[in-house]
Amino acid sequence: MRISVFGLGYVGCVTGACLARMGHEVCGVDISAAKVDSINQGHSPVAEKGLERLVSRAVRAGKLRATLEPAEAVAGAVLSLVCVGTPSGRKGEANLDYVLRAADDIARALRYTRRYHTVAVRSTVPPGTLETCVIPRLERVARKRAGRDFGVCFHPESLREGSSIHDFFHPPKTVIGSYDARSARRLIELWRPIKAPVFVTSLRVAEMVKYADNAFHALKVAFANEIGALSKSLEIDSHEVMKIFVRDTKLNISPLYLKPGLAFGGPCLPKDLRALCAVARRARLEVPLLSSVLESNSRHLQRATQLVLATGRQKVGILGLVFKSDTDDLRESPACALVKSLLRAGKEVRVYDPRVRPERLIGANRDFVERELPQLSRLLAQSLQEVLASSEVIVVAGTHPEFPDGIRALKKRQILIDLVRLSPRSVPSVTRSVGLCW
Ligand SMILES: NC(=O)c1ccc[n+]([C@@H]2O[C@H](COP(=O)([O-])OP(=O)(O)OC[C@H]3O[C@@H](n4cnc5c(N)ncnc54)[C@H](O)[C@@H]3O)[C@@H](O)[C@H]2O)c1
Repeated sequence: MRISVFGLGYVGCVTGACLARMGHEVCGVDISAAKVDSINQGHSPVAEKGLERLVSRAVRAGKLRATLEPAEAVAGAVLSLVCVGTPSGRKGEANLDYVLRAADDIARALRYTRRYHTVAVRSTVPPGTLETCVIPRLERVARKRAGRDFGVCFHPESLREGSSIHDFFHPPKTVIGSYDARSARRLIELWRPIKAPVFVTSLRVAEMVKYADNAFHALKVAFANEIGALSKSLEIDSHEVMKIFVRDTKLNISPLYLKPGLAFGGPCLPKDLRALCAVARRARLEVPLLSSVLESNSRHLQRATQLVLATGRQKVGILGLVFKSDTDDLRESPACALVKSLLRAGKEVRVYDPRVRPERLIGANRDFVERELPQLSRLLAQSLQEVLASSEVIVVAGTHPEFPDGIRALKKRQILIDLVRLSPRSVPSVTRSVGLCW
C-alpha cells in the first residue's frame, strides 16, 4: 500500500518505519524541516531503541521518505495516518490544533485525488472529535463527502516508548473505529500480517477505548504506588504483596469487576476500604486514590437516585435488594441505599426480592436492616405482580430468574430504570427504558 504518515514524532516515525519494513511505500509529512531532512538522510529524528537502523534501511530500500508538502504525500497514497501531537491545553483539554491543521492539509490534497482515500487518525483525541470536528473539516475543505468520496477511521495506537518497535509488531489489539466499511476493510487488510485481535467498532467507541486504556494504566500505577507506600509504612515488602496480587488472574487481573453497572456494596468491599484508609490515616499517609473510591461509589449511587427522581413519578417499584444474586445478604447493599434515598425524597417505594425474608434475617445482616432500613417489612411485596401493578417506575437493581417475565409484562405508561444492563431483547420495545451508564 502507498501510505502517507502525518507527524514524524514518536508515533509517526515508528509507524512509518515499521510499515516500510512490512513492504509498504511510506511518505512521512511533518511541519519540521529538521525532521523531514533527518528521515531523508536515513536518520531517525527521535531516539527510540532500534529505530535508527529501521529508518536507515527503509530509506535505503526506497520504501520510506519524507516531505514538507502534504499534497505530494497524499497524491499517490490510498491511506493517510494522522500521528500529530494532541498536547494538553491550558485547562487540561486536548489541543486539537495540530490534528485540524493536518486534516486541512490532507483535505486540500483530496480535492485533486480521484481514488478513494482513507484518513485514519491515530492521534489520541477526545470521544466525538472525529464526528464533530475532523469529518466536517475534511468535508468542507475537500469539498467532498465522507463515506462517499473518501473514508475516515479512528485507529488508536498502543505503542509504548522504549519498546515501540516490538509493540508495533505485537500489539495487544487492533482497534478500528470506522465511519465507512470500505476504510475498515482497508485497515483490516493492512494489519493482516500482524497477529492481534481486531475490533471494528464505531468512531466514538474507539476514541473512548483509547482514553479508557490510558486512564486504566495510570490508575494501576497510582494504585500500586499507594499500596506500596502503605506497605512501606507498615514495614511490609510491597513487591512481595504485588507479586502475589498479580498472580490472581481470576479476581484481580481479570475482566471481573470491569463492567459498568450499579455501585459496589456488600459486607466486604466498603468495610475493608474504610479500614485500609484508617490504616493510612494512622500512618499519616495520604492515599488520595484509595480515599476517593468510596466517594466515587456514592456519587454513582446518587446518579441512580437522580435517574428515578428525574422521571417525576411518585410510585417506584424496586426489583432486587440483595447486594449480589444467590445470597440474602443486605449489608451495605447499594439497592438498600437507593431505597433509603428515595424514601427520603418522599417517594412511595415497593420492593420485590424473593431472596429476602425479614423474619429469617439473623446476625449482622439483621442488625444492618434494623439500623438502615427498619421499615423493610412494610416495603416488601409478596409477589412481582404486586410491585408491577402498583408502580409507575420500575427499577431493576438486581437479577433473579423471575424478573425477566415481569419486565416483559410492563405497560407502555411505566418507565423502566435499568441498573444492571438488561439485554435489549428482554425489554419490550414499547417500554421507555433508561440505563444507568449506557
Ligand atoms: N508517544 C507515545 O508513546 C504515544 C502512544 C500512543 C499514542 N500517542 C498519541 O499519538 C499522537 C502523537 O504522539 P507523539 O508522541 O508521536 O507526538 P510528537 O509530539 O512526538 O510528534 C508529533 C509530530 O507531529 C508534527 N506535526 C504537527 N502538526 C503537523 C502537521 N499539520 N502536519 C504534519 N506534522 C505535524 C510535529 O512537528 C511532530 O513532529 C498523540 O496524540 C499521542 O497522544 C502517543
